[in-house]
Amino acid sequence: MPVITEIEDLRRLHRRRVPRMFYDYVDVGAWTGSTYRANRADFERILLRQRVARNIEARSLATTMLGQPVSMPLALAPVGLLGMQHPDGEILAARAAHSAGVPFTLSTMSMCSLEDVAAATGAPFWFQLYTLRDEEFLDNILDRARRAGVTALVLTLDLTIQGQRHKDLKNRMTAPPRLTLPNLIDIALHPRWALGMLGTRRRSFGNIVGHARGVDSLGDLMDWTARQFDQRLDWARVEQIIRKWGGPVILKGINDPEDARRALDTGCDAILVSNHGGRQLDGAPSTIRTLPAIRRAVGPELPLYLDSGVQSGQEALKAIARGANGVFVGRAFTYGLGAMGQKGVETALAILRREMDITMALCGVNDIKDFGPGCLWPNDRGN
Ligand code: FNR
Repeated sequence: MPVITEIEDLRRLHRRRVPRMFYDYVDVGAWTGSTYRANRADFERILLRQRVARNIEARSLATTMLGQPVSMPLALAPVGLLGMQHPDGEILAARAAHSAGVPFTLSTMSMCSLEDVAAATGAPFWFQLYTLRDEEFLDNILDRARRAGVTALVLTLDLTIQGQRHKDLKNRMTAPPRLTLPNLIDIALHPRWALGMLGTRRRSFGNIVGHARGVDSLGDLMDWTARQFDQRLDWARVEQIIRKWGGPVILKGINDPEDARRALDTGCDAILVSNHGGRQLDGAPSTIRTLPAIRRAVGPELPLYLDSGVQSGQEALKAIARGANGVFVGRAFTYGLGAMGQKGVETALAILRREMDITMALCGVNDIKDFGPGCLWPNDRGN
């Protein structure tokens, strides 16, 4: 077992332990991957200020996200098919998030259902919704989310048509895996993963199969899903869904100041600045680059979160210094899940926490609430 000190160690282990098509599904961007790479590279250009002699003994990362106390300003982003990275992946990730004191967001496209996650964790969580066409399904899933104790809805706006990811097409990526010869060989090379999957008792795509009209098998699912992404989505529809839910809503997938300004008028509770981890519009700017203009567009009050590219505590702090109230991570915790299940997600969160804590201290700051633009070199503040 290698010594694990950084998220990159978990990524390497994930790559070894999970069939290639599922690893590739995570570690890929759309088309040329330029936005995917920029999401990481743009963080490197932003410089933190090194401050000394400031008594940093009484440090705290604790704050709130959507009014909910969190042990650090970080949440788990919705990631589809976690249950294919590790049996019961959604449940294990939710448990790890709960024990670390940070929010977990369940994807619409999860293997374990809302009910599975609620029963297995007994803790509140957030739920990500795609804006689907089937009104009956939409009403029903919002009801199920309420009954499962979901405390916030994360409404994703940047996937009404799917960006192309070459690797997924070349791997013929499906879940569960289509039994082609290359896939069978790949699975045979990962007996531990295959045995785990055989042992899992849960029904796949439990949020959808058996709940949407005419979707009683996994075979029906792909067709139904392809028909559901609602390309007619507009702001009136966003407002309608916010009203239907009636509870806290985070609008996810905004990466432009004009959209952010319009989002503010919907009465949403927060915006998650995101380019879907570089998986949708290739050629779009990184979120760390657009964030300051988005903060200016919405003013100082609205909670702004950022995802896409955050894989270290330093990056999380740079986002906070440029105007975010917290960050979401997708791949950083998914690598941990694929590498080592619940323990891997716990390790990823512990790494991110340690990096945030030490970096905040080296910037001469005691309390995360005081971490602001003054912690960056003047040219990097984006204002
Ligand atoms: C995602 N993301 C995503 N978003 C969403 O709203 N619903 C979903 O089902 C998924 N599924 C998904 C699968 C995989 C494998 C990845 C990597 C991402 C996007 C996700 O919520 C988040 O925006 C990005 O992952 C953030 O970028 P990083 O942290 O992965 O760089």
